[in-house]
Amino acid sequence: MALRQLDDDDGLVQPEDVAGPDHPMRTVTREVAFERGWSSGRARKVAELFDGLAPGWSATHGDPVRLAPVRDGLLRGDVERGGRWLELGSGTGNGTRILTELVDRAVAVDLSAEMLANAPAGPAPRVRADASSLPFPTGLFDGILMVNMLLFPEEVDRVLRPGGRLLWVNTLGDRTPIHLSPPELLDALPGSWSGLTARSGSGFWVSVARQR
Ligand SMILES: C[S@@+](CC[C@H](N)C(=O)[O-])C[C@H]1O[C@@H](n2cnc3c(N)ncnc32)[C@H](O)[C@@H]1O
Repeated sequence: MALRQLDDDDGLVQPEDVAGPDHPMRTVTREVAFERGWSSGRARKVAELFDGLAPGWSATHGDPVRLAPVRDGLLRGDVERGGRWLELGSGTGNGTRILTELVDRAVAVDLSAEMLANAPAGPAPRVRADASSLPFPTGLFDGILMVNMLLFPEEVDRVLRPGGRLLWVNTLGDRTPIHLSPPELLDALPGSWSGLTARSGSGFWVSVARQR
């Protein structure tokens, strides 16, 4: 069994019905994860979309129930909290705040300048970059956190050290616009990965490492 399901975290909540399988962002998510469906045009549109959403993002996406899977995954996901972490699609820093409470070193990356501008300066260095082509050497990170973020499978695999962990979080479970189920995540990643998963708050987390 590639994924071991842990007990649900206390206090599960039914997620808001924000997005179903036909949500446009769901299509983008699948195309990026499974068909290398990313281009400079798509990058521009996604950056513009999130630039526009940035000012109100923290107020609507920062509540503890939504973020419960980030904390739970870091605490129960068998991750290396003493290591060097990368957060991809860090937005206005909702996940970064929890990440930097719990791990030693982290850097936060996002494509949208406005999302980064609306994130607090303190917790982690903020880098504007496209996760499809990261400005970091191969194998640099012990852990990668992705909260409701598009998956670029080869680039995640490249920058993680051998045995490093990807912590994938969907804060509204299968109602999250940028959603891959745990089996879809494993299918999209190159090679064979295994780890742990659990439901928490209104969502779930998956913590996986590549089996070499
Ligand atoms: C749904 S938001 C999630 C933000 C944050 N993780 C949260 O949960 O509040 C997705 C974020 O991913 C960023 N993003 C999308 N495509 C990206 C890419 N190719 N590289 C880096 N960031 C990207 C967006 O700009 C946006 O901030």
